[in-house]
Amino acid sequence: MYMKKNLCLLYLLSIFCYSHAQNENLNLEQKIDSTLSKMTIREKIGQLNQLDGRGTIEDLKVIIRKGEIGSVMNVTEPKVVNELQKIACEQSRTGIPLIFTRDVVHGFKTMLPIPLGQAATFNPELIQEGARVAAVEATEHGVRWSFAPMIDISRDARWGRIAESFGEDTYLTEKMAIAVVKGFQGDNLADARSMAACAKHFIGYGAVEGGRDYNSTHIPDRQLRDVYLPPFEKAIKAGCSSIMTSFNDNDGIPATGNSTLLKDILRKEWGFDGVVVSDWGSVTEMIKHGFAEDRKDAARKAIEAGLDMEMSSKSFIQYLEELIAKDIVSETTLDNAVRNVLRLKFRLGLFDSPYTEINKPIETYSGKHLATAKKIAEESIVLLKNEGNTLPLSSRIKNLLVVGPLADAPHDQLGTWTMDGEIERTQTPIKALREMYGDKVKIHFIKGLEYSRDKNTINFNQVLAKARQVDAIIAFMGEEAILSGEAHCLADIKLQGAQSEFIKKLSETNKPLITVIMAGRPLTISEELNQSDAVLYAWHPGTMGGNALADILFGKTAPSGKLPVTFPKAVGQIPIYYNHTNTGRPATGKEKSLDQIPLNAKQSVLGHSSYYLDLGIQPLFPFGYGLSYTTFKYSDLKAARTIVAPNDTLSISVKVKNTGQYKGTEVVQLYISDLVGSVTRPVKELKGFKRVELAPDEEKEVLFRLPLHSLAFWNMDMKKVVEPGKFKIMVGTDSESGLETFFEVK
Ligand code: GLC
Repeated sequence: MYMKKNLCLLYLLSIFCYSHAQNENLNLEQKIDSTLSKMTIREKIGQLNQLDGRGTIEDLKVIIRKGEIGSVMNVTEPKVVNELQKIACEQSRTGIPLIFTRDVVHGFKTMLPIPLGQAATFNPELIQEGARVAAVEATEHGVRWSFAPMIDISRDARWGRIAESFGEDTYLTEKMAIAVVKGFQGDNLADARSMAACAKHFIGYGAVEGGRDYNSTHIPDRQLRDVYLPPFEKAIKAGCSSIMTSFNDNDGIPATGNSTLLKDILRKEWGFDGVVVSDWGSVTEMIKHGFAEDRKDAARKAIEAGLDMEMSSKSFIQYLEELIAKDIVSETTLDNAVRNVLRLKFRLGLFDSPYTEINKPIETYSGKHLATAKKIAEESIVLLKNEGNTLPLSSRIKNLLVVGPLADAPHDQLGTWTMDGEIERTQTPIKALREMYGDKVKIHFIKGLEYSRDKNTINFNQVLAKARQVDAIIAFMGEEAILSGEAHCLADIKLQGAQSEFIKKLSETNKPLITVIMAGRPLTISEELNQSDAVLYAWHPGTMGGNALADILFGKTAPSGKLPVTFPKAVGQIPIYYNHTNTGRPATGKEKSLDQIPLNAKQSVLGHSSYYLDLGIQPLFPFGYGLSYTTFKYSDLKAARTIVAPNDTLSISVKVKNTGQYKGTEVVQLYISDLVGSVTRPVKELKGFKRVELAPDEEKEVLFRLPLHSLAFWNMDMKKVVEPGKFKIMVGTDSESGLETFFEVK
C-alpha cells in the first residue's frame, strides 16, 4: 500500500513538473509570439541584421533607433554597450534588446592557449573551466554571445585555422565542444555571467582543398556524417545556442544556402531551436561563388535555406521587405527566423535585464583566472623529445642562455584571434624565467633573431660566443601569431626565416640545447628535432605561457600534453591523419627507403604498397603522442566480455604503472578498430581517454565504459548502425602503440 501511495505521489509530481516546464516553455513561445505580433515587417527583418559596432557609433544609433538591427558585434566597452542598449530598449518602437557579440575564441582578456593547444590537454573539465573564465570576463564587458567554439575537424596543417580548431579527431573535438558550450553558457543562460555559444563553422570548413582558406570542399555525405557533423550534434545536445554557417561550398553548395544542412539536419533531425547566423559576408559571397545572381538573390537563397541572422552584409535589411511584398519569400519564413532570434534573447534574459552591470567588481585578470590560464598552458605543452633526460633542468645548471624570436614576444605568444588580450599582461618565457628562477640560475638573454621570419643572422656570432660560457641553451622558436588563423595559410610549414640555421649553429656548440616551439599548427621540424636534445611544443600558450614553460623546464610540473593532430615529416605527406582507411595495399613498414633503392632497379622490385619512396608512410609524430619526464608501463588489458550486443556497454580495464623517478600524468587512450564493415572503416578511432596522475612506482587500474552505440557509423545504406562483427581494442600512450585485445558484436 505504502509503495503504491508513493508511486502515485511520484506520478502526480512528474505531471506537475512536466506541465510546469511546458508552461515555462509555453510562456517562452507565447512571449515570442506576442512580441512578434506587435512587429512590423521591417522591424522583424531588423532582428535578422547583425552589424559591426566598430564603425561610426552615431550611424549605428540611428539604425538601432529605427529598430533595423538585432545584434551588434565588437563593442566591448560596457558604458557604450549600455548606451546602445538603452537606445534599443527605450527609443526604438519595439524596445527589443540587442545581443552584443565578440569572437571570444580562447579567452577574452586573460588569454588561454589557442584551441589546438587546449585540445592537447585532453582535459575537457579543465577546458570548461577556461571557457567559464572567458565568459565571466567577456560578460563583464557587455558581451553575451561568443562566436565559439570553432569545431571544424582539421587534418591539414597548411590551413591557418587549424590553430583555432581542436585538431583532427571527431571524438576529442566532441568532448572539447561540449566543454566550451557548458563553460560559456553555465547552468542558466539568463545569468548575467552566461554567454551564448556558437558552434562553427557549419560544415566541413577544415577540409578546404589544398589547405587554402575559403576554398571549396568535397566531402561526401558519409564522411560528413561520420567525421564532420558529430561535434555539432553533440554541441547542440549540450545546449549550444547558435550555429554559424561556413564560407565553403561543399559539393557545390555554399553552406549558407544549403537547406539540407540548415533545415533537414539541424532542425528536423536534431531539433535545433537556436539561431543560425551566417559568417562574415557569407550571404552575399554566394554571388562570388556563382550560386546567387545578385544581393537580392543571395538574401532569398539564404533565408529560404534556413539562415536566421545575416552577419555584416546587409542584404536582408536591403531586400527582404521587397521579396516578401512580392510573395517571393513568405512572411512565415521571416517569422520563423525572427522567432529563433527572439528565443535566444529571451533565454539570455535580455528582456528582463538588458544592461551590463558597470560597477560589479571586475574579475578580469583575477588571480584565479590567471591560474586557470597557466594550468591549461601547462597541460597543453607536449614533450616531443628528451634525449638523456636533458629536462627537467637540473640544479647543475648555473648559467643559462635564452635565445630565439619567441622568447620575449608578448603579442605573438597570445596567438591568433586575440581580440582583447593585452600584451602588457603577457608573461613571456624570459620574463617568467627571470621572475621565477632568476635567483637559482644566471639567465643570459640574446634574441638572435628579432621575429620568426627574420633572415638576418648578424647576431648569431654574439649568441654563439655567449653559448660557450653557459651550461645549457633554451631556444624559443616558432611562428608569429599572424602566420596562422583566418586567411593565413602556408604552402610549406617549416620554421620561417633563419630559425633552422640558427638551431643548427646552436647545436654545433655541443651545449645541451632545448628547443621550445610556439606555433599555431604542426611544423615540419625533423632536422631541428635531430639537432636538439629536448623539444617542447607549446602552441601559442597565451597570457601565462611563460610561467607554464618555466615550471615545466625546471620540473615543478611534468609535461602531460598529447598531440591532437598528426605531425607530418614534410608538407608533401598532407593529408595525413591517424584514423585513415587501410586501402587495399597498405604500407608494410618494410619498404625500402630512397637510398636503399638499387640502381637500374626493375619495375617491381619495390613492391606495390601505399607509401612515399622518399619519406615512407609514417608521420614525424602520431596523433596522441607526447612524452613525460617519467615512463609508464601498461599491463593487464581486459575486456569484461568478448561477445556483446549493439546496445550493451563494454567495460575495459588496463593497469598503468609509473616506472620512472618523477611524478607524472599519462593520458591513457582507448582506440577501437571495426575490422570489417559494409563500407571501409578507419583503421582505428579514439573512443576514450583518461588522464591519470601517478607517483613514481605507483600503479592504477584505469577503467573505460564503452557504450557500443558509440561505434555506430553510416553504413552502405546510409543508415547509422552498429554492425555485427569483430572489433579490436587498443589502449596505450598514443594512436600508434598499445596493448590489444578483441571482442565481437553479435
Ligand atoms: C570571421 C570568421 C568567423 C568569425 C567572424 C566574426 O570571418 O570566419 O569565425 O566569427 O568572421 O568575426
